Amino acid sequence: MAERIDGKAFAATLRAKVGEHAAQFAAQAGRPAGLAVVLVGEDPASQVYVRSKHKATVEAGMASFEHRLPADTDEATLLALVAQLNADPAVDGILVQLPLPAGIDEQAVIAAISPDKDVDGFHVINAGRLSVGQPGFVPCTPLGCLMLLKDRLGDLSGLEAVVIGRSNIVGKPMAQLLTDANATVTIAHSRTRDLPAVVRRADIVVAAVGRPEMITGDWIKPGACVIDVGINRVSAPDSDKSRLVGDVEFDSAEKVAGSITPVPGGVGPMTIAVLLRNALVAAYRNQGLDVPAGL
Ligand code: GUN
Repeated sequence: MAERIDGKAFAATLRAKVGEHAAQFAAQAGRPAGLAVVLVGEDPASQVYVRSKHKATVEAGMASFEHRLPADTDEATLLALVAQLNADPAVDGILVQLPLPAGIDEQAVIAAISPDKDVDGFHVINAGRLSVGQPGFVPCTPLGCLMLLKDRLGDLSGLEAVVIGRSNIVGKPMAQLLTDANATVTIAHSRTRDLPAVVRRADIVVAAVGRPEMITGDWIKPGACVIDVGINRVSAPDSDKSRLVGDVEFDSAEKVAGSITPVPGGVGPMTIAVLLRNALVAAYRNQGLDVPAGL
């Protein structure tokens, strides 16, 4: 039976560490680190995320600036708000919650965020910095996955890693981080031939496809470490209730893997914890202070 990787506990520890450093930052800088979150429209899932981010930011002792705009906001108005946040010295990090309503060009909005405040790591400058090994910002979810993997496995050198999914937000940066950590990385996707055989080679499986329970236990190499990024809401049989499942079929995979993240309680809680970490790193850099080791 696989050991369960407790992302919730790991995230709580990281948040506590960020909180301690945030207090030191405030004392040193004479102001708290600040994170601005922008939500356009009323998407229910986004509202939940934004509320959680606000609460976590305040709990870490950082200033939270929330901007809620109506669903019919035009792109120029949103770009003007981003410009204002870029110029505001109290704001170290800017997160514009995605998806944006139809009619707003997401890429244009991301491109307008100052790369030095882009705590999501979505700006092409930060993608480029990651690609060539310069310090920048790395997207929160893959960075959280890497932290869980290193905590679980220690040195990743020489391990076979298969990342399933090639999105800009998870798959591509995940593959880059694993490569930088000296793993041998394969990016698999919807056109991969014989995906089960590819996954069976992997000491590390990172599943980020967004298909409920697609990866089953018979795909997993015995003892592998399985990181499930999927969060899929499915209706439960014989009831009108829904439940959350990952991209991995947990019950069968758990019997074969060496360790595995559950859904919920695995990768999910890491995303906000890493966001707070990235925002505090932004604050140190923007203030011209050294980022503390280990943050
Ligand atoms: N929507 C869902 N997850 C995220 C995220 O990590 N960042 C942003 N900006 N939007 C999201």
